[in-house]
Amino acid sequence: MADILITGGAGFYGSIVARRLLASGHKVHVIDNLMYGPLPLMELFINPNYTFTKGDVLDRELMKRVAAGKDFVVHLAALVGYPLCKKEPERARQVNVGGTSSVISALDGQTKLIYASTGSNYGEVEGICTEETPLNPLSLYGETKTEAEYMCMGRGNCVSYRFATAFGLSPRLRLDLMINDFTFQALVNRYLVVYEKHFRRTFIHIQDMARCVEHTVDNFDVMRNNVYNVGDDSMNFTKEDIVLMLRKKIDFMSHFAAIGEDADKRDYEVSYEKIRKVGFRTEISMEQGMDELIAGLSLLEVRKPYSNV
Ligand SMILES: NC(=O)c1ccc[n+]([C@@H]2O[C@H](COP(=O)([O-])OP(=O)(O)OC[C@H]3O[C@@H](n4cnc5c(N)ncnc54)[C@H](O)[C@@H]3O)[C@@H](O)[C@H]2O)c1
Repeated sequence: MADILITGGAGFYGSIVARRLLASGHKVHVIDNLMYGPLPLMELFINPNYTFTKGDVLDRELMKRVAAGKDFVVHLAALVGYPLCKKEPERARQVNVGGTSSVISALDGQTKLIYASTGSNYGEVEGICTEETPLNPLSLYGETKTEAEYMCMGRGNCVSYRFATAFGLSPRLRLDLMINDFTFQALVNRYLVVYEKHFRRTFIHIQDMARCVEHTVDNFDVMRNNVYNVGDDSMNFTKEDIVLMLRKKIDFMSHFAAIGEDADKRDYEVSYEKIRKVGFRTEISMEQGMDELIAGLSLLEVRKPYSNV
């Protein structure tokens, strides 16, 4: 059993990671400033292996206290996505870069660090994207995540993930993620306008992202001091592929538009050979994830569907 601290553990991803690590018998402490409220982790208090601190990762004294003696720190706290970072650029730099510095300085050398970086760090890519492809972030989100990834890898005793775009259901629901957004619009509006339809994107289900942390905790010695693209070669799709798959499941109109663009210019095929070589494969297919989203999202009444804010 490992003693694990998760920063940002009340978020979309962290709340699933916390559940999964507790289910495997680990001790989990979460620090989160609860930007999106306390509900995602509420029922975990019944578990004696779960504890929580409400606080900011920028608070260096607090970080030292909560990180003391931990075997692992999974650092997730951030302002996430380019729209939110664009809206709050100063805070994005403070939290994503300054918060990472605060987390790193709170750790002793023994503590193993796991950092959730992102494929947005690559920017525009020619050919197939591997971990050796130079980073060229094009949005403030990508810039701050790249700087933080360099800091984490520079610290050492660390594994970083450059994740594909997440999708799936979580107690802190995000509808700004492409697959979640397309499914929700198709279900609720029965109409979807899609730009850059030939752009190739790469996806990963949120449960597979959480399984990856478990895999890393169990295999840290072989993974240590490496960055991994995390996803699966079978999960590279164009936006048009996604729309056509959804149309087999939902009755809606779609229009492929000539205007609009992704700030991170993500149009790439990503290789996941490196993470496969250390024994990690994703398990949830796009079909299975879409079926989950359709079942769950059709129950929702959401007033601000496009907001991650
Ligand atoms: N979801 C994805 O597609 C994806 C992909 C790649 C990487 N990531 C990374 O995974 C991490 C989690 O993403 P998410 O999708 O769960 O986002 P999220 O916004 O749902 O979660 C972020 C969490 O961090 C907390 N937080 C923010 N600022 C904080 C601060 N100063 N102190 C303490 N807590 C703070 C928030 O309250 C929230 O609970 C992020 O680092 C993100 O960059 C996510």
